[in-house]
Amino acid sequence: MIESTMETLSRRGKSGDFAKKTPETTSAAGMPTERARERWSELVQIIEQARGSYYQEDSPTLADAEYDALYRELEDLEQHFPSLQTQDSPTQSVGGFASDAFSKVTHEIPMLSLDDVFSVEEAHAWIDRCMNALGVQTMPMTAEVKVDGLAVSILYVNGKLQRAATRGNGSVGEDVTANVLTIKNVPERLSGANVPRRVEVRGEIFFPTKDFEEYNSARAEAGRKQFVNARNAAAGSLRQKDATETAKRPLAMVCHGIGVFEGAPRTPKFQHEWYELIASWGLPTSSYTRVVQSHDEVDAFIREYGDKRTHLDYGIDGVVLKVDSRESQQALGTTSRAPRWATAYKYPPQEVHTRLLDIRTQVGRTGRVTPFGVMEKVLVDGSYVSRATLHNASDVKRKGVLIGDLIVLRKAGDIIPEIVAPVADARDGTEREFVMPSNCPSCGATLAPAKEGDIDLRCPNFEKCPAQLTERIAYIGSRKALDIEGLGEEASLALTQPELDREEVAAALVSGEAVLLADGTVLRLDTTLVEKLGHADEITAAENLLPSPQQPALDTAADLFDLNADSVRNVCVWRRRAFPAGVAKKVGASEGWQQVRYFYTAGVRDVTSGGWKTEPRPTKTFEKIISELERAKDEPLWRVLVAFSIRHVGPQAAQALANEFNSIAEIANTPLATLAQVEGIGPEIASAISDWFTLDAHQDLVKKWGAAGVRMEAEQTEELAQTLAGLTIVVSGTVPNYDREAAKAAITARGAKATSSVSKKTSLVVAGPGAGSKASKAEELGIPVIDSSLFDALLEGGLEAVDV
Ligand code: IVH
Repeated sequence: MIESTMETLSRRGKSGDFAKKTPETTSAAGMPTERARERWSELVQIIEQARGSYYQEDSPTLADAEYDALYRELEDLEQHFPSLQTQDSPTQSVGGFASDAFSKVTHEIPMLSLDDVFSVEEAHAWIDRCMNALGVQTMPMTAEVKVDGLAVSILYVNGKLQRAATRGNGSVGEDVTANVLTIKNVPERLSGANVPRRVEVRGEIFFPTKDFEEYNSARAEAGRKQFVNARNAAAGSLRQKDATETAKRPLAMVCHGIGVFEGAPRTPKFQHEWYELIASWGLPTSSYTRVVQSHDEVDAFIREYGDKRTHLDYGIDGVVLKVDSRESQQALGTTSRAPRWATAYKYPPQEVHTRLLDIRTQVGRTGRVTPFGVMEKVLVDGSYVSRATLHNASDVKRKGVLIGDLIVLRKAGDIIPEIVAPVADARDGTEREFVMPSNCPSCGATLAPAKEGDIDLRCPNFEKCPAQLTERIAYIGSRKALDIEGLGEEASLALTQPELDREEVAAALVSGEAVLLADGTVLRLDTTLVEKLGHADEITAAENLLPSPQQPALDTAADLFDLNADSVRNVCVWRRRAFPAGVAKKVGASEGWQQVRYFYTAGVRDVTSGGWKTEPRPTKTFEKIISELERAKDEPLWRVLVAFSIRHVGPQAAQALANEFNSIAEIANTPLATLAQVEGIGPEIASAISDWFTLDAHQDLVKKWGAAGVRMEAEQTEELAQTLAGLTIVVSGTVPNYDREAAKAAITARGAKATSSVSKKTSLVVAGPGAGSKASKAEELGIPVIDSSLFDALLEGGLEAVDV
């Protein structure tokens, strides 16, 4: 059904406004209230615990962003009530520990942390603050990536590596000299001129991205616990008691600063000069660093590395800005925790932890039944997620997740939430295994694979299954098909399954809650009656109290184009939301279930007469749906074919069909063998097409849509010049004035194949804003890439027109 539930939110979220949003924490005198004090202790405890598992056990129990949000909340609270801020508050230390398993090293100069900002606005504010404090108009800064690894300090004496230590708590770290000596890009001896007598370089140890997946699967195969991410792999690998074990891991380092610096002929005046110097000694520095000086340049850097972050040699979790002039750095100084001359902009998280509350199943538009995880709502990459697909029962097995598990969640391709793995260590024995149902969760039909050997189970009730219909209607409205604004998942549910939540409403009545109907009536079940009845009877009594179930406005997609204001006048859905003030007072509850008109406004009653003061009228959205349906009737034939929801017939196959045949009737009457010969169709798709047309319900749909005026014949197009004949083209990112499907259609109409993935067979990649790894893959394979602004020129004049 719904793949993910997301609400885009400001990333500062709740933490930033803690004091504002919870008035009970403030008191007139600005003294912390009981509630504020309690919250402070709670936050300190959670943060200390999280720091423990992150730094000591290399196995975090809180996602980075959750940690950041709690830390922010604590900072805000302390800013609001300064008396709460004590010496031992986590805000006053850098975090981290030195384990007793290693000998301790006291840092001659403390290893500080960085203050974080979470938006470009906050980064700008930091820049402005520094410039103000320095009294300057321009302020060059280094912009660097923030490597997501493990901080180390390496001391070279007379050019020889003498000691390496982790950051530990900032003052005392762990001696990891033997381990660091096994890292290939860390020289044992410095080379080049101007090597100081004593120099301490600081940097980050990381596990290269390209090695991580492979290393982790090898571990899994060997029956060992996998690392949750590359950062933990780096930390776990470096902090091995036996350095020969570290030597087997592909660790590397990148330097980002200097600590001790004695006996050098010359001291650099700029941060970027430090890096040049460090590199001249044969130490690894980041090639991604550059000097910037305006807000715009900072934004561009953040954006650039935001786009590239998954393609870099190592994982990054942000961007670090440092005032370039060392003199200015000294003038700005440091706090006990972090320098004032540097800040870290943190990217939204890519992986978070949350609780898997349940695994349920959903029915797709072609009957496929897939499990999905229902999770405690969590913020991932700027939006809240509470659901993620689990594809099929084998996927659930393969991932090894149990209901009740703490899980790792990420955005696949930065959009679709994906359950990565369970945090098996966090189990307490109450977790249970998911069992795939054998009946359709919507209509109860017995599920079966389409053919023997298929992994997927399907609901065979194509005609009557309500869930399949809901999905088909929503799909018709989607961009891939007829692109009908307003006709999404919710509207489709209202049209096809308006009573979906009826059972829950009845249960609420049984539990004594009030229910508000669309006509203003408040329902309540007599509690003395409930006490007398058995459970089943209670539910029946509640069901009877509710208005009789509505017939859905649509019970087949065939009638979609006949929808009108009359047919949806009484469509109501059940929603749990805040009661109007009057009702809330009367029933003594602020929220509850309500019957809500979906396609009509609620209208206003006249209190005295009981009639309408303002009659309900169709909503703007419904009017839009109607005008969009009208427009859709004239969409190209291939879109109509897509809207049929024939298995395997997506935009690509539909375009192949529309290029070959002149009408739906012609396709319906073409023998299977002939269909299978069409370029881009093949036997499997051909048999799905011919199966589809044999069903009476589908013939009825074609007839009714045709009668309503939906295009059933190929559009008259002038014969387009075959400028791209024989080529295979991939479009990645956005193309000005074309949506993805339209761009593909334009390519096919000029004689080329439009494919989605880059391979050796690809002739050309068209890359626009948001293009991901495809462009870089093409470059690796030596395939030409053109900018999407040249797309029209390409269509007009072929490869020569774009100098390929
Ligand atoms: S400068 C005094 N530069 O991020 C300045 N740190 O969250 C201290 N980090 O402890 C660090 N990339 O381990 C700096 N380009 C970079 C960095 C970087 C990653 C780490 C470092 C630091 C932590 C603070």
